Amino acid sequence: MQIFNTKSSLQHYLQHIREDRKTITLVPTMGALHEGHLSLIRQAGQSGDITVCSIFVNPTQFNDPKDLEKYPRPLGNDIALLESTSCDVLFLPSVEEMYPDPDENWHLDLGNLETIWEGEHRPGHFQGVTQIVYKLFNLVKPDFACFGQKDFQQVMVVQKMIDIKQLLIKLIICPIIRDKHGLALSSRNMRLSAEGKEKALVLSKSLQCAKANFKSKTIDELTRLGKDIIQAEEDVTLEYFAICETRTLQQTKELHSDKEYVALVVAWVEDVRLIDNMLLNE
Ligand code: PAF
Repeated sequence: MQIFNTKSSLQHYLQHIREDRKTITLVPTMGALHEGHLSLIRQAGQSGDITVCSIFVNPTQFNDPKDLEKYPRPLGNDIALLESTSCDVLFLPSVEEMYPDPDENWHLDLGNLETIWEGEHRPGHFQGVTQIVYKLFNLVKPDFACFGQKDFQQVMVVQKMIDIKQLLIKLIICPIIRDKHGLALSSRNMRLSAEGKEKALVLSKSLQCAKANFKSKTIDELTRLGKDIIQAEEDVTLEYFAICETRTLQQTKELHSDKEYVALVVAWVEDVRLIDNMLLNE
């Protein structure tokens, strides 16, 4: 695996790859890699000829400077994990390399996608995400980009950016990886005790219940069922449970047979904010 710290060295390398008519797949990450990320790298290896993974803790997507400071950076372990997969290139830039102008302006009209659900709780977050992903897309010029379904709203936001900017990049949405009990893998799970992990299973249970009853119940009934499952678990605090149309993430009163739906959930366990989702039509 080749490691590059500067944009120019990465570009120079990728130019030769493109001259050889090889396709490139980008997997953008903020590090603290786990099996979920590695599944993206494996998918990338199957989609294109060369897999580029970036590790960059992007300051512009954090609302709280303390969160940015506390963000785990287990670099040695990340590199070892990537070396055990099909990753060809690791891009590991500094903040100065990605943001030479600290006052750089960026705004993309993301419509409602920016302000609902995660956007409501993390103002400016998706502007920061699109700002860095656009920089990485421009730099790497990938044919494919792999993103995890786990951050469903992020995937929809990135797809919207691809559409707005008319980029020729195919977004590959990779399935959520769960542990054997159903808990969606996340770097945040490290902060849960064994008991907390047990309690956190209500998130995936609520989603599974919505999926199992999708064909036979109304949206209101499905939402009630999901919320009840979470609220029945002591020490788990529900932030939201919603059934939405996948593209817009808008809640609708009725289900339409030509549309696709996703159940979204966020809840707190032991001071850890957990996020999960499930596609309902599949
Ligand atoms: O999902 C993440 O880890 C980040 O939001 C991303 C896409 C790498 C952008 O910083």
